[in-house]
Amino acid sequence: MQIHETIAGVRAALQSAGRIVFVPTMGNLHDGHIALMRQARAHGDCVVASIFVNRLQFRPGEDFDKYPRTFAADCERLIAAGVDHLFAPSETELYPEPQRYVVEPPAEHATILEGEFRPGHFRGVATVVMKLFAIVRPQAALFGKKDFQQFMVLSAMVREFALPIEVIPGATVRAADGLALSSRNGYLSAAERAEAPRLHRVLNQVVTAIRAGSRDFAALEAAGLAELRAHGWEPDYLAVRRKFDLQSPSAHDSGLVVLAAARLGSTRLIDNLEV
Ligand code: PAF
Repeated sequence: MQIHETIAGVRAALQSAGRIVFVPTMGNLHDGHIALMRQARAHGDCVVASIFVNRLQFRPGEDFDKYPRTFAADCERLIAAGVDHLFAPSETELYPEPQRYVVEPPAEHATILEGEFRPGHFRGVATVVMKLFAIVRPQAALFGKKDFQQFMVLSAMVREFALPIEVIPGATVRAADGLALSSRNGYLSAAERAEAPRLHRVLNQVVTAIRAGSRDFAALEAAGLAELRAHGWEPDYLAVRRKFDLQSPSAHDSGLVVLAAARLGSTRLIDNLEV
């Protein structure tokens, strides 16, 4: 695997690379990321990963400073997964001056759900991904569906800017007890780790009820939130939404997804399940 720290270096290396498939990450790679790398291999000639903890998508007081940085271990995992190139720029390489030009996703995508609780988050994500796309110039890019709203925002960005990039979803990878893999799981204490799979179980209960014919989405959301609160969680939201635009469904809509974000101790976890 070739490692590139500069924009000029990665551009030069990818000049005659064939069909480039790109997997952007913030590092601290787990099996979910590695599944994306392996999936990427099937979609092109040259698999490019990036590792960059993007300050723009964190709000003051969030975990930017303590976000786990495990570069050496990440490189080993990427090599084992057969990744061809890694782009790992410093902050001054990617943002040599304040990033004043930004991608501003529309409010109906960016101020709901995650965006309500993390204002500006999707502006930061869309801006860095647009910049990474301009540097790597991939023909395809993979994003995990654990960040369902991020996948929706980035797919819409690519579509509306007519970028010649195929956006490919990666299935959420879970631990045996159902907890979705996430770099933030490492923040959990042993007791919190034992409690954490409840988030998936609660989402599963809502999905099961919808599949069984329930259309009282508000009651299902309230029951899920109550169960989380009863076990010490502080939920930000638990919401049944339409998959294609993440707006609230009517009783007749199909193609639904149930999304949740909740804090367990000081760790904020998100997850979702498609109906
Ligand atoms: O999902 C992530 O890890 C990040 O949001 C991304 C897409 C790499 C942008 O920083």
